[in-house]
Amino acid sequence: AFAQVNVTVDASKPGAVIDKDVYGQFAEHLGTGIYGGLWVGPDSKIPNTKGWRNDVVGALKDMHVPLVRWPGGCFADEYHWREGIGPRNKRPVKVNTNWGGVPENNAVGTHEFFDLVEMLGADAYVNGNLGTGTPQEAAEWIEYMTSEGKSTLAELRAKNGHPAPFKVAYFAIGNESWGCGGNMRPEYYADLYRQWHTFLKAPQHLRPKMIASGGNGDDTSWTEVLSRDLKGRTEGITFHYYTLPTGNWDKKGAATAFPESEWFSTMTNTLRMEDFVRKNVAILDKNDPEKKIGFDVDEWGTWYDVEKGTNPGFLFQRNTIRDAVVAALNFNIFHAHADRVRMTNIAQMVNVLQAMIITDNEKMLLTPTYYTFKMYVPFQGATSLPVALSNNTTYGSNGQGVPGISASAAKAKDGKTYVALVNTNPHDATDVVLNVAGQNVGAVRGQLLTADAMDAHNTFERKDAVKPVPFSANASGGKLTIKVPAKSVLVVAVEG
Ligand code: AHR
Repeated sequence: AFAQVNVTVDASKPGAVIDKDVYGQFAEHLGTGIYGGLWVGPDSKIPNTKGWRNDVVGALKDMHVPLVRWPGGCFADEYHWREGIGPRNKRPVKVNTNWGGVPENNAVGTHEFFDLVEMLGADAYVNGNLGTGTPQEAAEWIEYMTSEGKSTLAELRAKNGHPAPFKVAYFAIGNESWGCGGNMRPEYYADLYRQWHTFLKAPQHLRPKMIASGGNGDDTSWTEVLSRDLKGRTEGITFHYYTLPTGNWDKKGAATAFPESEWFSTMTNTLRMEDFVRKNVAILDKNDPEKKIGFDVDEWGTWYDVEKGTNPGFLFQRNTIRDAVVAALNFNIFHAHADRVRMTNIAQMVNVLQAMIITDNEKMLLTPTYYTFKMYVPFQGATSLPVALSNNTTYGSNGQGVPGISASAAKAKDGKTYVALVNTNPHDATDVVLNVAGQNVGAVRGQLLTADAMDAHNTFERKDAVKPVPFSANASGGKLTIKVPAKSVLVVAVEG
């Protein structure tokens, strides 16, 4: 417990810029992720703007959401955009076959989605339907969203309330095409992608980045095939990885009241992201040395057993200090690979899986994960800096432990150097001695997120049980030591 970990940041060797879109969110038509959690409709008693909840949108603005992926997920491959435009009371009602078999009334469609991202000041990531759609349908959706000239679809967009084109930052061709998106092999997907990509046109300055749907977990074959066969045709290959405490999809582990063994296995499993990123990036470095293709982790986060008493198709789970630590560990990994990992989306923004926000009718609470995202805002668009750890502690025993401290650093747009420190150990604080090569460290100042219990979380009765507190430490005798509490996330700015 008295070990001192040395964390050395090299401010003289700036790395890649951490794209703001690394902090992206995912909002699927799933459970109450959109309906109820974000969208209540303009006639609701819940205060809203154009149908979107003011409380939820306000909180999301406070955490500077840079990017939202929509409409899925598995849902995307059964989504037909024409069913979601025009008067809402005339839109068809369908069965949401992926998520609980509930009615989908198409109240949220293209225009509503862009209202949301415009309110958030975020960019849009639209996920196209390769599974049950056609290249014509996708080409027309892109024309509808981006056409500026005289075209019937552009006029229809204007008639539906938006004369100016929408800005689509990313457009993905399919989702999980190895699974719910069509059970394809990567070679077949690559050929389909090439065909579709040929016809997905937009005015040059409004052209979305075209994204290929890639692999998941330890399967690197999708990255291998797609980076070989889609050269010059894609700006990003996606990757999905969910953190399950047990690693077993039939019995994933509980979100709260879990044993320490599952805190530990959650840390172990989430840190596998490092290995996955490394292996896939090595393939990209071989097939795409010019670094034209990003490695975009467009679904990640914890996935627990669904909360008892809730619809199993809605993927509702509670969110604790463990989730906050998981999020921070993943950010530290993404920062270290900022040259390739250019966009990610946590699953999902509201009420689904590792959510930022949980609602219950008119009530709303912010989760520990929300606070991790908010504390890391200075890293959006910052320049990553190399970090070396020595004498790190280990959490866990029998040679199977995980690093006690995880760290990352960057020079932010405000000119300051920021350091993020995470302590994976749920019992012991750790002393970190911070050095910044090329910069005097007189003090650090920032925010600390921690809690007493491993499953500490916010409830509607105690909304502030877990939230960040101000943190500072001063150098003494030319040395700056930071006591990083057990199970904590700490983000500080370095002062001279
Ligand atoms: O995020 C929930 C689901 O997980 C997504 O719809 C799908 O892409 C993945 O399997």
